[in-house]
Amino acid sequence: MSVPKKIYAKTFGCQMNVYDTARMTELLAPMGFVETQSMEEADVVLLNTCHIRDKAVEKVYSDLGRIRDVKAERRAAGKDTIITVAGCVAQAEGAEIARREPSVNLVVGPQSYHRLGDLIARTTGETPPIVETEFPELDKFASLPKRAPARAPSAFLTVQEGCDRFCTFCVVPYTRGAEYSRSIADVESEARRLVDHGVREITLLGQNVNAYHGQGPDGRPWSLARLIGQLARIGGLERLRYTTSHPRDMADDLIDAHRDLPKLMPYLHLPVQAGSDRILKAMNRKHTGAEYLALVDRIRAVRPDIALSTDVIVGFPGETDAEFEDTLSMMERVRFAQAYSFKYSPRPGTPAAGLEQLPEEVKVARLSQLQSVITRHQTAFNSAQVGMIMPVLFDRRGRRPGQLIGRSPYLQSVHAQLDSSWLGKILEVEIASAGPNSLAGVIPEASAA
Ligand code: SAH
Ligand code: SF4
Ligand code: F3S
Repeated sequence: MSVPKKIYAKTFGCQMNVYDTARMTELLAPMGFVETQSMEEADVVLLNTCHIRDKAVEKVYSDLGRIRDVKAERRAAGKDTIITVAGCVAQAEGAEIARREPSVNLVVGPQSYHRLGDLIARTTGETPPIVETEFPELDKFASLPKRAPARAPSAFLTVQEGCDRFCTFCVVPYTRGAEYSRSIADVESEARRLVDHGVREITLLGQNVNAYHGQGPDGRPWSLARLIGQLARIGGLERLRYTTSHPRDMADDLIDAHRDLPKLMPYLHLPVQAGSDRILKAMNRKHTGAEYLALVDRIRAVRPDIALSTDVIVGFPGETDAEFEDTLSMMERVRFAQAYSFKYSPRPGTPAAGLEQLPEEVKVARLSQLQSVITRHQTAFNSAQVGMIMPVLFDRRGRRPGQLIGRSPYLQSVHAQLDSSWLGKILEVEIASAGPNSLAGVIPEASAA
């Protein structure tokens, strides 16, 4: 076919889904598919979905309603549309999706998407839904084509998938399956290819990334710290990050890597979830508040300037006012540079969903109280950097003309007036002012010359 076919892809949820969407569109490129930003002109609409909270799932169904209308309009104009639902809702709900929304043609789980090309080739907008949610024996990564040229200087690279931790609130162990680590050689060859394509920063991804234990060149399992050490040797790769880590899997060699490896950025996302020991136990987090704080001390001892980030859930079943206060005091003790907060959302099939739930207004009030603490700490962290000079990797254009946006070592967004020849480059920037979510930078005379 000479006219390129078009795919419209939308990603919900975490960074691993961002990575998966990129791999899926790369997979379809050899079949003649090019990406479009317009759903109306898409021959294939792909939603890569998230099941983590109820709201994330409802967004998918409301989008599907809109897509159904677009499909009907296209059909009236004689055009075919294949609607594909991928990701964690696909895995969790399977055939139920096509029952609820019959215009859906394909349902593909996160472990089966390497088969997407075949599935699309077998499908038209009229074929009855195909549901593919197996956890195949075959390594998905081995069946994917090599990475296509990068579009940005910063890239994600999934090194670990699945989770064996079974926190009682979380669907991930069910949607993504058991923990699996890619081999050192496999990750390294993907990283080298990205760097050859101009990538300067790689963020290693995993649902529980610091549980990484991929096979090393010696045939034995290597830790995440060793993987990072190996990748740090790649010339042209300037920065490494990793996310998301579980406090219980924060090994000594990984902490030391934050002292020893200059390419490893001083930022760590380490979800705490709650401050009360009773709630942490009910969540099956396997750490107490005191253990978390001791871990923070050890990390800060080797890397005092590190930016710590976290996730917090409010309104877990049975959480009392006093237990919520424990979460607030945890926040005050650590003073996170960045934090994401969520109202507890009961997820079907998870242990906590069967417990008695707190009223919505309690969750709303706690969330807003928590968020004001988080904003205060974020602002303080950012403000403390005003006047400092730091390297910023500029990776995208800003909204205003002549503006570029980049990332500081601490993952803050930094915007500066700069011409676009600086895209993809690291430049020393002086921080001129700070807000809760971003920094404004100016280029010191000498470095922009
Ligand atoms: N693998 C990561 C992230 C899991 S999902 C980890 O181990 O932390 C990202 C965040 O969503 C979690 O850290 C948690 O704070 C939140 N989350 C997960 N399940 C949730 C639920 N049922 N309700 C509300 N928030 C939830
Ligand atoms: Fe979910 Fe817990 Fe696993 Fe994170 S560690 S993915 S919160 S089960
Ligand atoms: Fe959502 Fe699945 Fe990621 S549930 S957070 S897309 S692993």
